[in-house]
Amino acid sequence: SSHQYKFIKSKHKVATVNRRGVLFTVPRLHQQTLNTVTIHLGEETFKRITALPNEYGGRVVLTAFGRYILHTYNVEDIEIVLSHSRNIKKGMAYSFMEPWLGTGLLISTGNKWHRRRKILTPAFHFDILKSFLKVFEEQSKSLVEGLRQLNKGGTDVVDVIPFISDYMLYAICETAMGIKLDSDTSETKIEYKKAILDIGSIVMQRLTTIYLHNDIIFNLHPLGRRFAKCLDKVHSFADNVIMERKKAYGTEQNGGSKRRLALLDLLLEAERKGEIDLEGIREEVNTFMFEGHDTTAIALSFGIMLLADHEEVQVKLLSCFLFIFFIIWLSITHR
Ligand code: HEM
Repeated sequence: SSHQYKFIKSKHKVATVNRRGVLFTVPRLHQQTLNTVTIHLGEETFKRITALPNEYGGRVVLTAFGRYILHTYNVEDIEIVLSHSRNIKKGMAYSFMEPWLGTGLLISTGNKWHRRRKILTPAFHFDILKSFLKVFEEQSKSLVEGLRQLNKGGTDVVDVIPFISDYMLYAICETAMGIKLDSDTSETKIEYKKAILDIGSIVMQRLTTIYLHNDIIFNLHPLGRRFAKCLDKVHSFADNVIMERKKAYGTEQNGGSKRRLALLDLLLEAERKGEIDLEGIREEVNTFMFEGHDTTAIALSFGIMLLADHEEVQVKLLSCFLFIFFIIWLSITHR
């Protein structure tokens, strides 16, 4: 891409973070006197950006088309920024996700965030999480089995991200939404998975293509139209999940069976009490389906990459597990 990003040296104090949580100010007058570097977007961008603190210190301001973005690497700065209530509102980049996630927990602020958070917090009570261990175990086992199958094909280079994403999606759907996706081979499920992967890459392309930040241009652009199609699929899938659970919830209630309250059940219960409407439930369902699988899939994939790069750690890990299993075996056989 031909877009250029300009980096301003931080020693000129263009970036300030103070105790009031104010992030930074860039006096325009000073700009001419600042030392700048220009970076072209491309393969090397990530490496260049991550190397900037070595050159310029812990506060670097990135400018592009008159917008200023502070990259801060100082622990002290980060603490002030993260703990200050002034900075609760999400940045502009999150607005690209809004047509998808609505103002669910991730993007909402103030009163709305508070009310929703109150409804949802019980879903993450430690006792509830424990009851989901079975799901985690099942999904882990089938993930390992799936990896084995991949290996059987004789391939030794595998893109693990879409693969692991699948299992993380199954886990979040079963734990939070109370629906089993792994046994679901329907066209809509496959379309849903494709659509969320697609949305991820569209949002990244939009972020790095400055003129697509404008809503009107984006909506007219082929990328924006692809985004709209993905949204249709994702929303109708989420709506189906909600309606199915709503039906099941009614029948289970009548049977009086004891079940763990999945996140979606809590939301449906809140709807009956008039604390949230169906549109609100849809926002939270989309938010959790995304937050619940993308984060963990990326974390696991990076974990696997690091293990692949550091064989000595693999050996340590293996001996650690063997030791633990040995202790468990001893405690069982000598009881
Ligand atoms: C390795 C895994 C994960 C990482 C690194 C991670 C990281 C984060 C971070 C940094 C935030 C704060 C975002 C912000 O306010 O800008 C956040 C918020 C959130 N995360 Fe995660 N997360 C992970 C897993 C999960 C999972 C498994 C779920 C759902 C089951 C989840 C649901 C959420 C939600 C709903 C929020 C918004 C919470 C609120 O504002 O009240 N995350 N996560």
